[in-house]
Amino acid sequence: MDYDEFWSIVTGYRKSRIVHTAVIWKFFDYIGTGTTAEYIAKKANTDERATERILNALVGMEILRKSDGIYRHTELSRSQLVEQGDDNSLAGVRHALQSWENWGQLPDIVKTGELPDRKRVFDDPERYRTFILAMHQYQKHRAEQLVRQLPVKSGDTILDCGGGPGTYANTFQRLYPGADVTLFDLPDAIAIAKELNEGDLPIQYISGDFFEDDLGGPYDLVYLSNIIHSYSPDQNLDLLNRIYAAVKTGGRLVIRDRFLDDSETKPLGAVIFGIHMLVNNLQGGTYSVKELREWLQSVGFGKAEYQAIEGNGEIIIAEKLD
Ligand SMILES: C[S@@+](CC[C@H](N)C(=O)[O-])C[C@H]1O[C@@H](n2cnc3c(N)ncnc32)[C@H](O)[C@@H]1O
Repeated sequence: MDYDEFWSIVTGYRKSRIVHTAVIWKFFDYIGTGTTAEYIAKKANTDERATERILNALVGMEILRKSDGIYRHTELSRSQLVEQGDDNSLAGVRHALQSWENWGQLPDIVKTGELPDRKRVFDDPERYRTFILAMHQYQKHRAEQLVRQLPVKSGDTILDCGGGPGTYANTFQRLYPGADVTLFDLPDAIAIAKELNEGDLPIQYISGDFFEDDLGGPYDLVYLSNIIHSYSPDQNLDLLNRIYAAVKTGGRLVIRDRFLDDSETKPLGAVIFGIHMLVNNLQGGTYSVKELREWLQSVGFGKAEYQAIEGNGEIIIAEKLD
């Protein structure tokens, strides 16, 4: 690694905190079609000199533009950083901002293995809503590309297990109108998924806890996206056993997540995401493809095939042979 890159890692929080601060004080909302630092500070009720410095740094990072003392939006700030009615465009950034509260306590988590006052998404309805909407925000532009690559036939019964906002369930239903699509999640997520099903797609919804309640089925395909990283190996084995029982013979389970290589040090995005899980729920983590294959085999699935999907992560497809 070169020296500059090393220092940009050591001080990487600075850029994040500048963006967080501007979001917290709603600077992006006050820019409108272009305005001065003075106006923004007045609207935000913040210190004018400090506000100007933050705005200048955002221009330096190419998140905003500036000419003749007037700050203006870039395409990116307008689409990602402004509160826009029902669009939920800020949910992803808000979720990142909320996660910072726990990330800031990483040294304590590592010291004790616990964080008693950790803010968990499941403990607070507003935080949970932001989390679910953030999932939609992250996935909505990517879902179609992935679903097109899955082994789905018209008329299949499909379970989106822990499908959250329904981004994938809706995409399955839209691309395969003859499919019978079920979304299973906790009651609060199901309520949001129903809100987001604007086209009134004929999705079936099951509210419940996938460790406790009947998953329905049997299904030709179960889709499990971004779930296993939230749980421990024992919990994942329990869940995979329950899913196995809900898959038809000849049916498939598709697991989408970030997977580690056997060294557990690469790819870096998956390693860091494992720390994000440590910070946010302690029990979860990222797992290797090898580990996943062992779990799948131990619950009874046949061969498990790994695939990298361009622009949308990685999947493991396992088949139930008998
Ligand atoms: C990270 S989100 C993934 C959402 C969606 N699958 C996706 O890929 O965008 C995890 C989802 O799992 C759901 N979930 C977590 N534990 C659950 C449980 N025990 N029973 C049902 N749903 C659960 C959460 O409510 C949330 O919607």
